[in-house]
Amino acid sequence: MECNKTTRVVVIGTGFVGSSYSFALLNQGITDEMVLLDLNKEKAIGDAMDLNHGMPFGSPMKIWAGEYSDCKEADIVVITAGANQGPGETRLDLIEKNAKIFKGIVGEVMKSGFDGIFLVATNPVDILSYATWKYSGLPMERVIGSGTILDTARLRFLLSQYFDVDSRNVHAYIMGEHGDTELPVWSHANIGGKPLMSYFEEHKEEGRSLKDLDEIFINVRDAAYHIIERKGATHYAIAMGLVRLTRAILRNENSILTVSTLLRGEFGLEDIYIGVPAVVNSSGIREVLELNLSNEEKEKLHHSANVLQNAMGPIKN
Ligand code: LAC
Repeated sequence: MECNKTTRVVVIGTGFVGSSYSFALLNQGITDEMVLLDLNKEKAIGDAMDLNHGMPFGSPMKIWAGEYSDCKEADIVVITAGANQGPGETRLDLIEKNAKIFKGIVGEVMKSGFDGIFLVATNPVDILSYATWKYSGLPMERVIGSGTILDTARLRFLLSQYFDVDSRNVHAYIMGEHGDTELPVWSHANIGGKPLMSYFEEHKEEGRSLKDLDEIFINVRDAAYHIIERKGATHYAIAMGLVRLTRAILRNENSILTVSTLLRGEFGLEDIYIGVPAVVNSSGIREVLELNLSNEEKEKLHHSANVLQNAMGPIKN
């Protein structure tokens, strides 16, 4: 990306996640242009109007409701379109309906001559990221799924509350499926550089036990269900995670984030998109961080990968 190039992000889908993402993108002033696409064109126009009216409170940028042809000049196309989980529905339950939608969307984007980076947020995000990679024909490094970026944030937040430490100084990953088979990587978790288990031992106040950490993980894994039961959808935190990813790309930050990317032998897995820590920059995925997982973590990651592989039917057939 040349340094003085006008940056453009196209958001496909202006539902809960897409409109929260565009609102966050405007407020963080990360891109010069933002184009909103939705099947419901009036909704996209309404969102563009509403966001533009906030411009005097933010920093100048161009926002409009556009067409697929606007993807040609886009640096990033973010796909949030598709059905989202209903109460009690798993993310994998969405695969049939969303896989069909994606074939159409990705085909239209590629017809425009798009040659940038796809960010995929629609669930099941690991499978739809793989589908986007296949349907687009782009190199794997330029098709990135939000993966477990949100799950990792949820884990860091809950641990920060438990230990009363700034969440930005809590480092802990969730890897695997963005879904029910995800796993916490306790072996590499740390508080400000001190291994989490040592910090835990040194701050073992009355009544604290390692079971608390298991409970924290379960709350992370099931968070979406509990939010959806209450308000019908999740969208703020995932939108902020997508903005974080957008910033890492547009500003060439080489940031390490747990995204869904194609594994080609790392962790003993291949031909699968799954949540792992990776370096993200203006070219997309620079490299996967192959951590030395514990045997238990490796087993859980392979189980998660098997569940995803078994659900890939609609994509691979
Ligand atoms: C969630 C959605 C983004 O976990 O899958 O909130």
